[in-house]
Amino acid sequence: MKVGILGSGIVGRVLASAFLKEGYNVMMGTRNTAKEEVLKWARENPIGKTGHFAETAQFGELLVLATGGTVTEEAVALAGIENFSGKIVIDATNPIAPSQPENGVLKFFTTLDNSLMERLQKLVPTARFVKAFNSVGNAFMYKPQFAGGPPTMFICGNDAEAKNMVTAILADFGWETEDMGHVQAARAIEPLCILWCIPGLLRNQWSHAFKLLKA
Ligand SMILES: NC(=O)c1ccc[n+]([C@@H]2O[C@H](COP(=O)([O-])OP(=O)(O)OC[C@H]3O[C@@H](n4cnc5c(N)ncnc54)[C@H](OP(=O)(O)O)[C@@H]3O)[C@@H](O)[C@H]2O)c1
Repeated sequence: MKVGILGSGIVGRVLASAFLKEGYNVMMGTRNTAKEEVLKWARENPIGKTGHFAETAQFGELLVLATGGTVTEEAVALAGIENFSGKIVIDATNPIAPSQPENGVLKFFTTLDNSLMERLQKLVPTARFVKAFNSVGNAFMYKPQFAGGPPTMFICGNDAEAKNMVTAILADFGWETEDMGHVQAARAIEPLCILWCIPGLLRNQWSHAFKLLKA
């Protein structure tokens, strides 16, 4: 299967390499294919492809959004709304506002009555968005190793088939998955990023992940 990763930051590069390791045909998308990080990724991943956002969105049968939260809608427009039609889109983004955290608590530009993924789902109604990978640091996105066993990835989205596929991918990537329901659940899943970052921002502790314990 062809995967188009929209984003060449650390998350885009980590997920692009992870999908390659799992045997997918991968293109990593950027506005600038001559950027040093992109060239370095291409040298280290010779079977991976790189391309502009639109080329990448066209290429991918499955898409991953890994762009800065404030610019994600801009990136989707650059990628071409028509290139998302009917596709499963894993949304790893967070709506982090460009202001200083307060005592380690990041600021969001969304409220608790809305979320970035709801905005994206409205922007591209035909795409099948699934929130995933947003509530953990990039170092643990692929094959995380914790003494407490596999951590839990909280996902949500409106399309059951899309969530089943993402759940299977997450199992291959070393995760347990909890489906939290429809797109509105992104209002709860996106802020997990704020919680995840607090120990890092306060105490420089970044090596953790969430796990849901059930009776
Ligand atoms: N860092 C983490 O560990 C982590 C963990 C979980 C979730 N996340 C979320 O994942 C997303 C990506 O994070 P990141 O740290 O990898 O990188 P980032 O710096 O937040 O985003 C980099 C990407 O955003 C694109 N971009 C920047 N300005 C743009 C614009 N005006 N229009 C279109 N695209 C633009 C860049 O394009 P170019 O390729 O052209 O430079 C690049 O592909 C964020 O939403 C973040 O909150 C991050």
